[in-house]
Amino acid sequence: MVGGSVPVFDEIILSTALLNQVISFDDVSGTLVCQAGCVLEQLSRHVEERGFVMPLDLGAKGSCHIGGNVATNAGGLRFLRYGSLHGTVLGLEVVLADGTVLNCLTSLRKDNTGYDLKQLFIGSEGTLGVITAVSILCPPKPKAVSVAFLGCPSFAEVLRTFCTCKGMLGEILSAFEFMDAECMQLVGRHLHLARPVQESPFYVLIETSGSHAGHDAEKLGSFLEHALGSGLVTDGTLATDQRRVKMLWALRERITEALSLDGYVYKYDLSLPAERLYDLVDSLRARLGPRAKHVVGYGHLGDGNLHLNVTAEAFSEPLLAALEPHVYEWTAAHRGSVSAEHGVGFKKRDALGYSKPPAALRLMCQLKALLDPKGILNPYKTLPTWA
Ligand code: MLT
Ligand code: ZN
Repeated sequence: MVGGSVPVFDEIILSTALLNQVISFDDVSGTLVCQAGCVLEQLSRHVEERGFVMPLDLGAKGSCHIGGNVATNAGGLRFLRYGSLHGTVLGLEVVLADGTVLNCLTSLRKDNTGYDLKQLFIGSEGTLGVITAVSILCPPKPKAVSVAFLGCPSFAEVLRTFCTCKGMLGEILSAFEFMDAECMQLVGRHLHLARPVQESPFYVLIETSGSHAGHDAEKLGSFLEHALGSGLVTDGTLATDQRRVKMLWALRERITEALSLDGYVYKYDLSLPAERLYDLVDSLRARLGPRAKHVVGYGHLGDGNLHLNVTAEAFSEPLLAALEPHVYEWTAAHRGSVSAEHGVGFKKRDALGYSKPPAALRLMCQLKALLDPKGILNPYKTLPTWA
């Protein structure tokens, strides 16, 4: 997404792929301890067989490693329910730049013994140390999972659907994702996935996860009745069996793939106040006109996270100049973040100043100098070029 793991000049690549063992699983607390090279989907299977789920899920689950997930503080599709890895990771083992093995692989829920050092490495993108093992808290596997896929007449209705749904579904709401009509056209055109509801300007995917199928069905039923009756949504479909649940999720999860088949993709991953989340997409469409093939907005609305993507036949400097710094300035003016969940990497490091004050950037540089004085750990990444 941001070139965080892409070697650019003179780097040596370390692979943790052979560190792929589960070390332990405690089926009372749900704590999984594993090596960094374990693939997320395999871990999911491992804990699901024991009645738990990984607190993290994302489209790349079949290939991404848990060590990379933690190093980049990946957000994903379960964030709304289980929160950030800053909360679910209990401990880490990290190799420091001088070769010290920092064993903070604790599995304690509570540990208030001074600085919480593991937090420094979560989201540091390998610039402060190499994560080699992870201890992570897995919640119990929900007994009932349902997905509703709905069409909304405008973004205002998407927002109202979200508010209504939080009120009516409460503790069983586990995801609230949205996509615009252009996203749906692209997954249809490039991946041949069929639209499951009538054509609409916006679509939302709502997932509920609970411990009692009957209770969840009743709540979801009255929410859908209300949403359809009051015109918040114009059409909808509901899935409770695993195959259809997966099929509906694929429409949302595979947008990235569809975009990459459309041409060169300019990608932005922004945190914005939910009520202004789509304004930038509309204004960019007008600003770019026919220079862009598609300007699309989708993402984790429940987390205030917009994925703004622009496709074009090929990379072009003038198009980039029309996008940047405009997108970042707009985001800063709305007190948003220029990277919600994709990190900073190589591509966004000079945009950091739009979301962090100078004193915070200076402290980041001081931490880097302290932990990696020779600058050998993932150089050229995360920190601004001037650092
Ligand atoms: C997603 O939520 O689908 C990804 O984080 C966005 C992307 O791949 O651009
Ligand atoms: Zn995302």
